[in-house]
Amino acid sequence: MRPLTVLSVTSEIFPIIKTGGLADVAGALPSALAAEGVTVVTLVPGYPAVLKALKGSEAVHRYPGFFGGTARLLSGRAGDLDLFVIDAPHLFDRPGSPYLAPDGQDWPDNAQRFAAIARAAADIGQGLAPGFIPDVIHAHDWQAGLVPIYLSLAEGPRPATVMTIHNIAFQGAFPAYLLFELGLPASTFTVDGVEYHGQIGFLKAGLQHADRITTVSPTYAKEIQTPDGGMGLDGLLRFRSRVVAGILNGIDDNVWDPATDTHLEQTYSRDNLNARVANKAALQKRLGLSQNRDVMLFGVVSRLSEQKGLDLVLAGLSSLLSDGAQLVLLGSGDLILEDSFRAASIAYPGQVGCLFGYDEGLAHLIQGGSDALLVPSRFEPCGLTQLCAMRYGSTPIVSRVGGLADTIIDANEMALAAGVATGFQFSPVTLSSFTDAVARAKTLWRDREAWQRLQHNGMSADVSWRRPAKQYADLYRSCLPT
Ligand code: ADP
Ligand code: GLC
Repeated sequence: MRPLTVLSVTSEIFPIIKTGGLADVAGALPSALAAEGVTVVTLVPGYPAVLKALKGSEAVHRYPGFFGGTARLLSGRAGDLDLFVIDAPHLFDRPGSPYLAPDGQDWPDNAQRFAAIARAAADIGQGLAPGFIPDVIHAHDWQAGLVPIYLSLAEGPRPATVMTIHNIAFQGAFPAYLLFELGLPASTFTVDGVEYHGQIGFLKAGLQHADRITTVSPTYAKEIQTPDGGMGLDGLLRFRSRVVAGILNGIDDNVWDPATDTHLEQTYSRDNLNARVANKAALQKRLGLSQNRDVMLFGVVSRLSEQKGLDLVLAGLSSLLSDGAQLVLLGSGDLILEDSFRAASIAYPGQVGCLFGYDEGLAHLIQGGSDALLVPSRFEPCGLTQLCAMRYGSTPIVSRVGGLADTIIDANEMALAAGVATGFQFSPVTLSSFTDAVARAKTLWRDREAWQRLQHNGMSADVSWRRPAKQYADLYRSCLPT
């Protein structure tokens, strides 16, 4: 196996800074890839949390003028992650979200902030950091989208580039007048360059110029090549379809392990599923639900956004909660959705419990204590919570889209008879098919043996990074010169 060096470029990374699944992926892939002979160093912005986590750092380069201020490129470690960090206080020394100002609006200089990481990545690709020249630069989402175009502007050899789409809804489009400020010559402002409907399209540029394009499930790889799923980029993706691939995400099975999870009231494995009742009780207590192990408890762990289809849960609440069933929701995001779920918890005291905000420990307890996890997404590139749910014996109820379609085996009659079902799927994403799936789940839940079979199947599925890491390693190798 030829050793390979990869520079991964990401705007968030678990466990240091996370707003969603991208962080989980960026945080877990490096160690999974190590087993495939791939050394990964990750380039991240120097947010306060990153600088705090960075140990043994040294400055490998100083930029006197870098997108409006001075900057240093640091190299160091955080836990088991090898990092390059752009220490540029004028861009990244800000509290809160990596993307949003305290008023909930995008930071006004996001174009400069994320062009900066792409610029530094391209510089590293061309030898800026002594002793480290990557074979491949792996750019994640629009924030890293300019990497291939910056690389294409310089002479000489360059690493291969892989652009991964985690969510095509976020495209990073900025006004054309920023071209010069971003260090992009006028010649790049063309349809086969960065130009996108008269703007500078960061993701578009990456998709246009990367050697390979991946997304996080085979079904989403197809969906984004359709007008509905491509959100404006489907034509370009169809044009480049020969280099587009879908590789499913995994989860870090050390972080997500019910046998050792310290966030749980009671650890367990598939051989003593009954121990989960202690987690159910702890969850009911924590969220003010009535203590009753004999009612079905549904969980949600999610960003609150249009994508996640949680309005279906609200619309279907009365049938969901009929027969005394309960709902716990952990989420943050859209304030209207927050208000609606808050109102639901008032309307159904003891039956609906919500926590708004980000809480890693509670996310684990919901997986370990709920009977079923709801993921009714309108679209879902991959989704990680359904994988965590499988590993924790909470049965996923998901819409049949994107990675949800690829990871869950619906408990239809044949799958039940064959003993392979892991959850419930519904399609189309409508209230009636959602409530049908919930009704099917409720019926099966009363059949303890059949339900435990689902749990066993889910817990036996390999949701780790092992298989996907091998696919990434093969992909990296396939784009190198022979
Ligand atoms: P997305 O990236 O679209 O938000 P994913 O399912 O891929 O969706 O990843 C979401 C990740 O964020 C999972 O690890 C999930 O457990 C976590 N998560 C989502 N919301 C919260 C929250 N409010 N508190 C803690 N963890 C959360
Ligand atoms: C995005 C997607 C989600 C995916 C995650 C990690 O945030 O919405 O489906 O699992 O990225 O790839």
